[in-house]
Amino acid sequence: MSLASAWSVALLGVDGVLVEIEADIGAGLPGLQLVGLPDTALSEARDRVRAAVLNSGEAWPVRRMTLALSPATLPKAGSGYDLALACALLAADQRLPRERLRDTALIGELALDGRLRAVRGVLPAVLAARKAGMRRVVVPGATLAEAALVDGVEVHGASRLREVLAWLRDPCAGLARPGIRRLPAAAVAPDLAEVLGQPDARWAVEVAAAGGHHLLLTGPPGTGKTMLAQRMVGLLPALSAEQALEVTAIHSVAGLLSADAPLLQTPPFVAPHHSSSVAALVGGGSGRARPGAVSRAHRGGTPARRGRRVRSALAGGAAHPTRGRRGAAGAPRRGGSLPRTLPARARGQPVPVRAS
Ligand SMILES: Nc1ncnc2c1ncn2[C@@H]1O[C@H](COP(=O)(O)OP(=O)(O)OP(=O)(O)O)[C@@H](O)[C@H]1O
Ligand SMILES: [Mg+2]
Repeated sequence: MSLASAWSVALLGVDGVLVEIEADIGAGLPGLQLVGLPDTALSEARDRVRAAVLNSGEAWPVRRMTLALSPATLPKAGSGYDLALACALLAADQRLPRERLRDTALIGELALDGRLRAVRGVLPAVLAARKAGMRRVVVPGATLAEAALVDGVEVHGASRLREVLAWLRDPCAGLARPGIRRLPAAAVAPDLAEVLGQPDARWAVEVAAAGGHHLLLTGPPGTGKTMLAQRMVGLLPALSAEQALEVTAIHSVAGLLSADAPLLQTPPFVAPHHSSSVAALVGGGSGRARPGAVSRAHRGGTPARRGRRVRSALAGGAAHPTRGRRGAAGAPRRGGSLPRTLPARARGQPVPVRAS
């Protein structure tokens, strides 16, 4: 019997939880068992990992193998555990040294040919790994810039399983390291000065932006409601470093970050399509959370056309602990929470401002 373990991260909403992946190889009929509440994508990791290991020039152990993900009671979703599963197995088969696996979190999906594919939510995963005391994190090369936004942890990028195995065997082999951090080109925010007339509405926008209030704009079509709402975000101050990471983490889980300059530094304005469903606005999902427009507009703004329905959906999902800026609303059925700015303030009635 031979045992080894590796580390990866599970995401609950935008919060990461460190997951230990234990591999056991023992006597019995050859086969691979995966335990620890995996969803369908994770259950299929057995086939992906096998093909990726073989196509990376490694032998596949023809023994009885068990992979256990713990905490066992935490539901695990997605394909981001593949790399850690492969490494734990090879370490249990005595073909990888275990020292580096002890304080390294491994994140990434394996393609059948051994390529390491990007996954959503790398930023919150790296934040969680750092918080849990991991010294190093290995992520897919395409998400290296995103992972490098987190200070205080060594971040490495790889594009193939073969590279990670070589690095675990010999640290001198080296993996890609983050380059100079690039900031996105400063976006020119729409200016409130472009709005002609509408002094009351403009004043209301300024007051709402200054005080962090919600604002209900009503009026006939084409009178500038959307125009005013867009310009409200331009009045908000730039995000602090901590807020920028918080907002970027939500967009990371939504899979919307740019690969080379991922950090969002200005309050986001999210304009959902007028036919968007309440689910698209509020977010959620049965497995891994999909942030809706309300969450993506965290610390920024979004015009909520279906304000009443959105508020009731948020309130319904958040029957209890909803004080503050987080709640169960918009959360996946399996748990977790998504930050959102709407409901905590939505208790007060929005102030109607008539654009005429
Ligand atoms: N006060 C204004 N000053 C300058 N341009 C304006 C003003 N009001 C409307 N416009 C112009 O009309 C266009 C349409 O306005 P906007 O889309 O904001 O209207 P709306 O009230 O949101 O309409 P709808 O109810 O159909 O959504 C704007 O893009 C802008 O070009
Ligand atoms: Mg409009």
